[in-house]
Amino acid sequence: MSYPYQIRSAEQYQAAYKKSVDHPEEFWSDVASHFQWRKPWDKVLEWDFKKPTIKWFSGAKLNITENCIDRHLEKLGNKPAIIWEPNDPEEYHRVLTYRELYNKVVQFANVLKNNGIRKGDRVCIYMGMVPELAIAVLACARIGAIHSVVFGGFSAQSIADRLQDAKAEFVITCDGAYRGNKEIPLKGVIDDALVQCPFVKRVIVLTRTRTAVSMIKGRDVWWEDEIKKVETQGNPDCAAEEMDAEDMLFILYTSGSTGKPKGVVHTCGGYMVYTNYSFVNVFQYQPGEVFFCTADIGWITGHSYIVYGPLSAGATSLLFEGVPTWPDAGRFWDVVDKHKVNTLYTAPTAIRSLMGFGLGPVEKHDLSSLKVLGTVGEPINEEAWHWYDEHIGKKKCPIVDTWWQTETGGILISNMAGITPGIPSFATLPLPGVQPILVDENGKEVEGNGVSGNLCIKFPWPGMLRTTYGDHERCRQNYFATYDNLYFTGDGCLRDENGNYRITGRVDDVLNVSGHRIGTAEVENAINMHTGVVESAVVGYPHDIKGQGIYAYVIYQGSSDHDDKLVRQDIAQTVARIIGAIAKPDKIQFVSGLPKTRSGKIMRRILRKIAEGETDKLGDTSTLLDPSVVEEIKNGKL
Ligand code: PRX
Repeated sequence: MSYPYQIRSAEQYQAAYKKSVDHPEEFWSDVASHFQWRKPWDKVLEWDFKKPTIKWFSGAKLNITENCIDRHLEKLGNKPAIIWEPNDPEEYHRVLTYRELYNKVVQFANVLKNNGIRKGDRVCIYMGMVPELAIAVLACARIGAIHSVVFGGFSAQSIADRLQDAKAEFVITCDGAYRGNKEIPLKGVIDDALVQCPFVKRVIVLTRTRTAVSMIKGRDVWWEDEIKKVETQGNPDCAAEEMDAEDMLFILYTSGSTGKPKGVVHTCGGYMVYTNYSFVNVFQYQPGEVFFCTADIGWITGHSYIVYGPLSAGATSLLFEGVPTWPDAGRFWDVVDKHKVNTLYTAPTAIRSLMGFGLGPVEKHDLSSLKVLGTVGEPINEEAWHWYDEHIGKKKCPIVDTWWQTETGGILISNMAGITPGIPSFATLPLPGVQPILVDENGKEVEGNGVSGNLCIKFPWPGMLRTTYGDHERCRQNYFATYDNLYFTGDGCLRDENGNYRITGRVDDVLNVSGHRIGTAEVENAINMHTGVVESAVVGYPHDIKGQGIYAYVIYQGSSDHDDKLVRQDIAQTVARIIGAIAKPDKIQFVSGLPKTRSGKIMRRILRKIAEGETDKLGDTSTLLDPSVVEEIKNGKL
């Protein structure tokens, strides 16, 4: 497969960027012309950020799986589409060629149909990182069902919230999942969630761990039995559903600064074009190379750069079930060596945690196959960047620092490997088609270089979200209402003297813990559900490995002779139950009051400073209702 739209020099980047701004419709229709459409578009772009309405390739018909699989069969049928590395290195890895992937996807698409799933139905997928997860995702896309993958670390309550919000009547899961030395009882978690979701009609369960599971008659069926039924029906094919470019492809829930997570909606045409374009250009993927993105498919990174981006480009995508530190801290390097990985795309938190194990685990493995390294999910500190560069890339692999979000669908700001220069801790330059702008608090553009502000995007790109599921007004409020006619990212950003962008972190109440987005309000709501808790306030603080840790100030009025340590553990347990273990607070400080303004607003700025240990830099505290609260908190112990 060749990529005529792949940029191969800095000059070409400049030219492509200029064209994308001067003639965006022409630019994107040129790129889109290299995909397989059943019917071409009537109009490239219609948009209005006020509403917001964003339509790319209106009137066009396609099915993304024909682009990710069918169109590669002739030339790449025998080439690996997915290499699967299991959790346990002693277990055999699996390779699925494009032909095999095709067979499995159409087979499972027929299973979905047999189970009553139709175009437009929402299907929740809660699985570990097995090839069948990618197969389930693609099978949904094949028949036009809308998938909503939920990361395996979320609790039953979180799943129930998502199922209710998406009104999903179908679930695909596994009996259990392996992660390092742990076994996670996925079906058991689903069973707990479904107590609150009687509208779920069917649960398809894949066997992975052979854990004992309950199977409810009439509702739960085994994946393997359903496949056998399809085999005996003798219909090996499943025609791809014809989708409108703007039909929903998937919903993915993500945290914001208020309320429950929202279902970010991506649509078929624009998302396909954008994930492919960004994949081919940022990583400079060349046919035949092995691409290893270490994310979980439960996050947007896995959707875009394990499944849709690489497969639409006919690439070989490595899917890893395990964790970086099991059986030892050399596991990533073992996987790179074993499968001769050419591009490794991971998160700064993983790099920082592996740095802590020294060079021993790295030196045992041959990393000479690596050509390109990437990072995503949070700002990368210079120390981690240099370690990655020196010890993993051996100073010969460009590092792409890719900034983007669940809402953006694909990478928006990044250097392009070997084409435009990388700078430690800078995402550097926008991709063609992306028009960043910095604004001050009042929404006034901050012009020129050597400036900072809130990062917004002023023109649509094909991969952007279209709505939040079931609540378009929420989408408008969240992203398009803060500043007029701009998409607001929620990130703070600096533009240096040369126009390079450096993301400085969230400016709203969203935390980034180990590259995972967590809303402070969500954690507070969960803590407040714990018996005896009167009120709480949650802020982030710098954490060596996680980037940000979760610091909770809690007013607790439980039994007077309680044991602080035990109550802390209990509160953490409640959070794990309500959200998932990823949201457990790292630190809990009991306080008798919270610093509030006279109008009753919690002054988080002060709490953040105290959590950061900068108690001498609290700034203006004159608007506080009761300044003595701050003194108490400052002197309080954990
Ligand atoms: O704050 C930014 C940070 O992660 C947020 C988006 O999180 P999520 O939707 O979960 O998507 C993560 C993977 C795309 C952003 O608002 N972020 C992501 N990438 C970077 C980053 N911060 C700095 N540098 C990055 N490369």
